Amino acid sequence: MRVAGGARTFTAPMSQPKEIPLMEKIVSMCKRRGFIFQSSDIYGGINGFWDYGPLGAELKRNLRDTWWRAMMREREDVVGLDASIIMHPAVWKASGHVDTFSDMMRECTVTNKRIRADHVEPQSGKVFLFEGAACPGKWVGDFAVVLLQKNGEHTDSVRKRAKDFYIQRVNAMCGAEKASLTDEVQLNERTETVANSVDFHPESGGLLTIAKPFNLMLKTFLGATATEADTAYLRPETAQAIFAQFKNVVDSSRVKVPFGIGQIGKAFRNEVTPRNFTFRSREFEQMELEFFIPPDEAVRLIHGHVAEWSEDADLSTPQPDWGWDLWHRYWVAQRTAYYAGIGLGAEVLAYHWQKPEELAHYARACVDILYKFPFGTEELEGIAARGDFDLTQHQKHSGKPLEVFDEELRAAVAKLTDEQKRDFNAEVQEQWNDRNKSREEAAVFCERLLKGFYVPHVIEPSAGLDRLALAVIANAFTEVEKTDAKGNKEVLTVMRFHPRIAPVKVGVFPLLKNKPELVAKARAVFETLRRQLACFYDEGGSIGKRYARQDEAGTPFCVTIDFDTIGENGPELLDTVTLRHRDDGRQERVKIGDLPGLLLPQVQ
Ligand code: GAP
Repeated sequence: MRVAGGARTFTAPMSQPKEIPLMEKIVSMCKRRGFIFQSSDIYGGINGFWDYGPLGAELKRNLRDTWWRAMMREREDVVGLDASIIMHPAVWKASGHVDTFSDMMRECTVTNKRIRADHVEPQSGKVFLFEGAACPGKWVGDFAVVLLQKNGEHTDSVRKRAKDFYIQRVNAMCGAEKASLTDEVQLNERTETVANSVDFHPESGGLLTIAKPFNLMLKTFLGATATEADTAYLRPETAQAIFAQFKNVVDSSRVKVPFGIGQIGKAFRNEVTPRNFTFRSREFEQMELEFFIPPDEAVRLIHGHVAEWSEDADLSTPQPDWGWDLWHRYWVAQRTAYYAGIGLGAEVLAYHWQKPEELAHYARACVDILYKFPFGTEELEGIAARGDFDLTQHQKHSGKPLEVFDEELRAAVAKLTDEQKRDFNAEVQEQWNDRNKSREEAAVFCERLLKGFYVPHVIEPSAGLDRLALAVIANAFTEVEKTDAKGNKEVLTVMRFHPRIAPVKVGVFPLLKNKPELVAKARAVFETLRRQLACFYDEGGSIGKRYARQDEAGTPFCVTIDFDTIGENGPELLDTVTLRHRDDGRQERVKIGDLPGLLLPQVQ
């Protein structure tokens, strides 16, 4: 999970996969079958941007729908939002993104290429240093070129590379007086050996500068003048719109804490090194839920205690005495169940519970749900307990109150004696002090709380739609060796998508395309089914070829209309079809009228 308002954190340093054969096959299949294309492909592409082709667009839509359904439609306590991509720049100041949403970058002093500080692998070897050239009228003495010998590079060659570059740069600095550099005596040359150093660019071998922050937000200008004052940002996350519209949603929707606001939409980040296909892109979609809960102090006042987590805690049904910890664990369990429901079970997922030193300063806990991608086990979703940081920041910066009034809390407080209130106050101040919050802040909080008001805390399950699409594609990708009638072996791709997310649910084929009765019947079956399911009609090539094409598209079911269907072999098989299952090749005879009832429950 990447954070504004604090240093970014990682599950593990991600090594750059140069050539991962499985990834190469997946990327090639995605292009061949129309799942994912490089954006602007005919112009050579643009780094970090991707387009979804016909099958990819359906897949992505299905994933979006499963999230919306699980997080919104099947719950009573979450409502939706569809906010604009560009918001008032003050939103990003308040959220911390303007000041701190950055990657630490280092620059190669030889090529000026930038690299993320945490992506530099340790290197060892011989280092060549040139410095000390005299240049009349200009001080270049402190300019040096430091180059690490690359693996397999000849010593003479790296020395020459370093020296040539040094001379070239100093010449450029000195302009007309460059002749003085031809004299070798004026150069100081040294060699050294380094071990496990992270100070050299992995490609050029050039010395790296110290790390400096590089803001990841994409800027644009609004209006015709396009001055700095017109700067706006493409949102780097969908979450902030939820916080900024919190009050409007509360005022318009009769929601009551605990409740959530969910949103699916585009986000943009000027990633320095987009990579691993769509995994780290510059334009991507997020599926984010902000689930608002009362602060633990309110729960304690209402229920006399806050329920504590234990190994055997039942996380299936939320309870009124839950504090942030149980709500957080509940959402980890909910999201895990969601992934299982679309075919990503425990065997392909992993969890990274962030250590206290990895957490953003305001976060109480954060769990990354990871998927075992071919290039490494990497983040699919982050689930963070963010406290009241976001709403408090927006309250402060906008000047608009973002508290809620809690009737139950007010009623509980009304039963307290003055002494009990004083004790509560003292207790909260002490606890807050332990969390580095001032006594004044605690006093203001208690005063509002004892009147029934608080700024809700939030649990944020934040998933990437494009990462999820990549995960389900990688998970579905299977190669099967087949031997044809002539004994020739071929490797076929089968995309074993869970039926719920498969781009096409049913392929419908007439056995032969030159038999009008078969074609007419197949078209009729197709027209009926397509009203309820995504179907694909295909009459080209042998049935085996048509099955193979649907296997590659990930279609879980195929229906073939043959001579039995039209009653040529007796009335008992009239209006029955062959239903073929993708994953085990099983075929069964099914009545046309039974198809919707049989298929719909499996794909919804
Ligand atoms: N509101 C919290 C937030 O944005 P994040 O970890 O930075 O947290 C959430 O992003 C999710 O968005 C990630 O788990 C990932 O799935 C997705 N995501 C983030 N950056 C991405 C990128 N450059 N390309 C594709 N997906 C990305």
